[in-house]
Amino acid sequence: MRRSTTRSVTRSLSRSGRERSALDAAYDECRHLVRTTRPTEHALMQLMPPVARPACWALYAAFSRADDLIDSTEGTPEERSRRLQEWRVALESDLASGTSEDPIRLALTDSVWHWGLDLGDLLAAMDAVQRDDGRTGVANWQEWRERAHSQNISWPEQLMRMLVRVGLPVPVRLRDLPGFTRFVDGLFLTDMLRDLREDLDAGQVWFPADVMDRFRVTPADLIAREWTPEVRELIAHLTGQAREWLEGSRRALRNTLPLGPSIVLDSAVELFGAELDAIVRAGSAVLHRPVRVPRHIEWRLLGPARARAAVVWRLTLPPGRADAPARTAAAPATPGDATAPDPLTGTGLPTTRIAEPPLPPRPHRDGARPPAIAEAHLPQHVAIVMDGNGRWATGLGLPRDEGHRAGAVALRDVVQGALEIGLAHLTVYAFSTENWKRSPDEVSKLFAIMRSELLDGELLDHDVRLRWVGSPDGLPDDVVEVLRAQEHATRHRTGLTLNVCVNYGGRAELAQAGAALARAALAGEVDPARVSEQLFAAHLPHHALPDVDLLWRTSGEIRTSNFLPWHAHYAELHFTDQPWPEVDRLDLWEAVVAYTQRKRRKGAASAAPAKGAE
Ligand code: IPE
Ligand code: IPE
Ligand code: MG
Repeated sequence: MRRSTTRSVTRSLSRSGRERSALDAAYDECRHLVRTTRPTEHALMQLMPPVARPACWALYAAFSRADDLIDSTEGTPEERSRRLQEWRVALESDLASGTSEDPIRLALTDSVWHWGLDLGDLLAAMDAVQRDDGRTGVANWQEWRERAHSQNISWPEQLMRMLVRVGLPVPVRLRDLPGFTRFVDGLFLTDMLRDLREDLDAGQVWFPADVMDRFRVTPADLIAREWTPEVRELIAHLTGQAREWLEGSRRALRNTLPLGPSIVLDSAVELFGAELDAIVRAGSAVLHRPVRVPRHIEWRLLGPARARAAVVWRLTLPPGRADAPARTAAAPATPGDATAPDPLTGTGLPTTRIAEPPLPPRPHRDGARPPAIAEAHLPQHVAIVMDGNGRWATGLGLPRDEGHRAGAVALRDVVQGALEIGLAHLTVYAFSTENWKRSPDEVSKLFAIMRSELLDGELLDHDVRLRWVGSPDGLPDDVVEVLRAQEHATRHRTGLTLNVCVNYGGRAELAQAGAALARAALAGEVDPARVSEQLFAAHLPHHALPDVDLLWRTSGEIRTSNFLPWHAHYAELHFTDQPWPEVDRLDLWEAVVAYTQRKRRKGAASAAPAKGAE
């Protein structure tokens, strides 16, 4: 992987001490909640790389909060449903603002922000929980499975996403792996059995009606807690079914996952298997109290797994990636321009969170410091073709959009690095006019990622002025809206100008300048005989963009792909092999240092050292 020596992952310092301790307390509360209400899940989370554990607690705490709100016995079903709805609405607004009054939502917001989790999917899972309201049950296993998957699969997928972020090649779309969906089925059924009492207290029975019929058990029998021979057989059948799914998933997934996730999966199968044993032993008590695995059994199963996991994460993750708490901070919310569309609903033009004053750059995760380069030697304008997202993802067996997602995270770090060295202009190629040739699915996912990055990324926390370079033609309205809104929200910033090229084409830009000049000539405003380079430049749609000093492309491609033909006419070119998602700010600094060693003659005979604006 990348260079790395003594990596000790540093926590973000971008929050005040008080905010950080609120965040730490929030994660601790999530952990406490998981440990006390779901000890098995908590034990399994301890097998994850330490860096990912706080987000696991936050995800699970949020999930069980949603579940509890709907399952609780307090109030009427309508009241419960309203409470969940309120919680979800509050979560959406917290996610937009980057902070929360509620500890679970604060931790979740921070995790979503920090790990680039898929918000939309998580909210859809919550909506699926909400839809249970008013439902009376499921007819057969197929309906049961739909319910299980819609509510549950998104959560483990977020864990996979985190593993990808720490450098592990794992599949993210678990829902496409039949072995995994079986695992979720086994888990969900075990969970339903061990907490059967809760459902019965709420007067709900979620076992498939056709299975109940087969065993001649009615929902009323269960709700009345009658331990008849039929009920006993039904429970025995269901525990057997759950066990079969869990074991089957282990066999099916044996060779598809790397060692670390396999240990977690194996231990989950063992632990949930032990829960099923406990359910069988509990007999009629399963109808009256939650069933838990005795501690000594849990320890016997988990002790060796913990030791193995610790070694495996150390060996398989890039140095320093495994073992630091991910207590980086989300952006504090400060009211700002009320212009951006709502990030989640896409409706209206509600608030843009913008930190005022902007926060200092977030330090590099290994504590790396920027090279000292005198301002006079810095390039004034660096432009980047962020290439290789798709190949990076495909190489890891992931869909291409995961590459774009990881690419957005890489850009965050590069922007921080640009701020740290005091760069004035950074221009990034995010979507070219040629990129419309890609599949509609990839294009729409790319726009969704871009949009959520612009709304929920850390851009607005720092001294970054955003400028959009490109054409609105053909772009979805919500993308245009958010680009314009964030341009507007950051217009007073004086630090780095980040030009994002979205729907940009170099030739189109030149043709537009030509058309503008022709119009001006026809109107008698311009004398064609006097069209100079300066006059031409003044008619470019983005005439304020300075000349590019350094043009960098990643992923080993040696071409410029219709990027900034006018502005980059004398740029120093820099090509590197790594795909964009593997880049971080150290690579930017390396490019800039290499630039300072170039001799920029610009046609002259003597060798002048590289300089920015001349
Ligand atoms: C660059 O990565 C990002 C965009 C073009 C949006 P690619 O998606 O081009 O990745 P590769 O070149 O196919 O690997
Ligand atoms: C250039 O990359 C455009 C962006 C990075 C947005 P492409 O991947 O689209 O370029 P080609 O197709 O390799 O030239
Ligand atoms: Mg490409």
